[in-house]
Amino acid sequence: MTTLAETTTGATPRHGFDSLEGETQIEALPVNGELPPWLQGSLVRTGPAKWEVGSRAMNHWFDGLAMLHRFSFAGGEVSYANRFLETKAYRAAMEKGEITYSEFATDPCRSLYQRVTAMFSPKLTDNANVNLVKLGERFIAMTETPIPVQFDADTLAAAGVAYDVPGTLTTAHPHLDRATKGMLNYAAKLGPRSSYRFFLVRPDASSPEVVASKPVRRPAYMHSFGLTERWLVLAEFPFVVNPPSLALSGRPYIENYRWRPELGTRFHLFDRGSGETVGPFEADARFGFHFVNAYEDGDEVVADICTFPDAGIVQDLYLERLRAGKPVAQPALERFRIATGSGAVAVERLIDEPMELPRINYGRCNERPYRYAWGVGSDGGWLDRIVKADVVERRSTTWLQDDCYPGEPVFVAGPDAVGEDEGVLLSVVLDASKGNSFLLVLDAASLEELARAEVPHHIPFGFHGQFAA
Ligand SMILES: [Fe+2]
Repeated sequence: MTTLAETTTGATPRHGFDSLEGETQIEALPVNGELPPWLQGSLVRTGPAKWEVGSRAMNHWFDGLAMLHRFSFAGGEVSYANRFLETKAYRAAMEKGEITYSEFATDPCRSLYQRVTAMFSPKLTDNANVNLVKLGERFIAMTETPIPVQFDADTLAAAGVAYDVPGTLTTAHPHLDRATKGMLNYAAKLGPRSSYRFFLVRPDASSPEVVASKPVRRPAYMHSFGLTERWLVLAEFPFVVNPPSLALSGRPYIENYRWRPELGTRFHLFDRGSGETVGPFEADARFGFHFVNAYEDGDEVVADICTFPDAGIVQDLYLERLRAGKPVAQPALERFRIATGSGAVAVERLIDEPMELPRINYGRCNERPYRYAWGVGSDGGWLDRIVKADVVERRSTTWLQDDCYPGEPVFVAGPDAVGEDEGVLLSVVLDASKGNSFLLVLDAASLEELARAEVPHHIPFGFHGQFAA
């Protein structure tokens, strides 16, 4: 019998895709270095942590049962807690000992009768393992089904559905609406007449307001969108679905999408005030998950996005491939400059280094011209370094350490910061040689290490989190 370690070729690190079962609370993690005294608050993250249920394993990285992780900073110390998000999907898996809800690329085993029943009342998963937001005083974990899960940031206990989503699919990457302090997000309404929609949820509201919509016949997979002061920016990559197939195909959700490069990439702009839509503006076919930022420059709209040549990245991230160390497509930071007058879209790669899981100084720079983005990159293998991109000078700097694999670097602005990059980055890093993870604190300007706090176990590779003061 071969072990996971023996079959790993080196492209993918050990432990990052191993399930984590234990839940714990630790008052003070061992800290090396000096935490900035001004750093007070919590980094809360979500991500998949358990891919095996009963005798089955989930198929895809994105399928794992959600776990919350919280690092709290106070008085130069760091406490840590982790807890599974107790959703319907999690409770059913624990009680029945089997996968009960359909995930991104995994369906429960169903009899023919159950399949027919599911067709008429689909059990949408609430496994919110992608991202979370703080909306007003509420913490809300999210995935791409319309079931945002509120939770208590102190106990990490789930607390029900946060608000209604006006559609069948949504994103886990909403934007802040500065005017209302509410949240703007996308929804796809699927049915005989499908449409792309944007909606606003005010801080204390449970009902959304649809602010713009546009009919669509073959909706594209959407993971995020861009926001400028005037526009909601949708990048319609040609990875599309025929809506009835989602209900009728009997295939897991993402396997219903088809790569249709002849459609190209189509940008749609939705006016935030009037709801008016313009476009589509066409570019060559690409695929992407994450907008980095967007802004207006005269009558042009600039959208910076981490892209892949095609949707093959979705295949690359199946768990069996990742656990076997198979290669993964590399992300590129690209700028799309959309001339709303002529309709032309110019595309330019901003830095040579691959970059994904991008973050910016959001409070200061979202919707506006900016200079810096931070993310994770690699030299061709798995994501193993933190990258700082200077999108004005078109250059990048990196932090890396042997056998260490950082996650999304979250920027936290320093007190009274003047420079856009004045602050720290917080990243959960897997030390594959030791088999555990640590929270890394870097100076966001220089990428110099300020401190690290060791966690006694590994934290499976996750996606996104937020810092809340
Ligand atoms: Fe994401």
